[in-house]
Amino acid sequence: MATTTTTKPRDSWGSKFGFVMAAAGSAVGLGNIWKFPYTAGESGGGAFVAIYLLFVIFIGFSVMLTEFAIGRKTSVSAVGAFKSTDRRWTFVGVIGVLSGLLIMGFYPVVGGWAVAYIYKIATGLLSTPEAIGDSFGSFISDPVQPLMWMGLYLLFNIFVVIRGVSGGIEKAGKILMPLLFLILVLVAVKGLSLPGAMAGLEFLFQPDFSKVNSSVVLAALGQAFFSLSLGMGCMITYGSYLKRKENLVQTTAMVTAMDTGVAMLAGVAMFPAMFAFSIEPAAGPGLVFVVVPQLFAEMGGVIGLLLALLFFIGLSVAALTSSVSLLEVVVSYLIDEKGMKRPTAVLSASAVMAVLCVFASLSLGGTGPTLFSTGAFDIFDLLTDKIFLAVGGMFVCIFAGWRLNRAELEKEITNDGQIKFPLFGLWYNLVKYVIPFAIAIVAIAGVKAGFDSGKGEIMMIGLGVIGIAALLSKKL
Ligand code: TRP
Repeated sequence: MATTTTTKPRDSWGSKFGFVMAAAGSAVGLGNIWKFPYTAGESGGGAFVAIYLLFVIFIGFSVMLTEFAIGRKTSVSAVGAFKSTDRRWTFVGVIGVLSGLLIMGFYPVVGGWAVAYIYKIATGLLSTPEAIGDSFGSFISDPVQPLMWMGLYLLFNIFVVIRGVSGGIEKAGKILMPLLFLILVLVAVKGLSLPGAMAGLEFLFQPDFSKVNSSVVLAALGQAFFSLSLGMGCMITYGSYLKRKENLVQTTAMVTAMDTGVAMLAGVAMFPAMFAFSIEPAAGPGLVFVVVPQLFAEMGGVIGLLLALLFFIGLSVAALTSSVSLLEVVVSYLIDEKGMKRPTAVLSASAVMAVLCVFASLSLGGTGPTLFSTGAFDIFDLLTDKIFLAVGGMFVCIFAGWRLNRAELEKEITNDGQIKFPLFGLWYNLVKYVIPFAIAIVAIAGVKAGFDSGKGEIMMIGLGVIGIAALLSKKL
């Protein structure tokens, strides 16, 4: 039963460096630089960061290794990986494709903002520092402007993904990821040099556990999954392109470390500056779009302008190497399971995403349909980040621990015994027992707490969708 169904040759990664960079490119994105800082700010700072780090180490690392192993073992994309093993598990892949569509229902909106900021900075945004905050607010609530930038951003994605895996994604990642890292270091150094910077570091790294509740814990879990690109088959799909001889454990360690490093760096770049400018930590999704331009406006001159430009170019590129991986999950599903040609698959997936993005963008200006008085942008974010990814990751672990065979997993992860992984037993037990249980508890408590803030209903709908998918699993 546990055989793969495809025999056609699969495009594979050109080099080890290329794969690590592409997987890190998928992981490092808006999640690290846009979402992490504002979520940490809204969730009380240090304690959130500490819990997030624990989740990354104990859950994120293990789930990523599991996803790579499942992907490489089955050599098919997310849905096929489950389906070829056991049709009853197809729903986990399907939930993943759905998460991909939904995340791409708002991610390109924010990606579009990043691209727009390159243009805005080039055309004089920094010359009026006091207007930077208001200008962000009026920009994202405008009904037309952000849509044009979103469209442009989505076109970049289409271009990269149509060219296929080693041609497009790999090249983009290889050149642009190291550049982004360098820019972030510069931004962090500048932020730390401002007066009052220490208060920002304290906020970020000094845990105050009295601020922790179930919502904060669920937010930290969701952030770990989102940032590491886990729980929706993204790393399964990437793993399916991975060559037999690569070291999965080492690759996982490198990707996890880079992703978490960039998130921390983004925090260090942003919080000191925020405290120096007395911007509220809970300022929300506008954080990076307000703090960073203000930081560079403060710096002034041509250098400030150039660095600001480079920052938003880097942010756009980081977003791009992430969103192409989301698009790729949906596209490889359409290719592998529905027999579509790559260009047709890319265009049909992007068309659906574009429509969702229009709703998401309009919802920020207060227009468009709402559900339990929540707009499209927040619905997509809530469903994916708080429910689908974590529950998806839970099923990935249950699948590996209870449906797959321990000896086969060990063979896959150690490349038939050629690679030493002394922690295999620990990893296996975490994946089989601890992680599914931990995620279930965090999710249940988080949904319960969600009812206090009016978000519980939407989360319940998400759980309902998963239940229905599971019931229909054999037909999917
Ligand atoms: N990790 C990416 C970021 O931080 C977003 C992303 C890409 C993602 N692929 C994913 C999130 C798969 C969840 C699942 O921006």
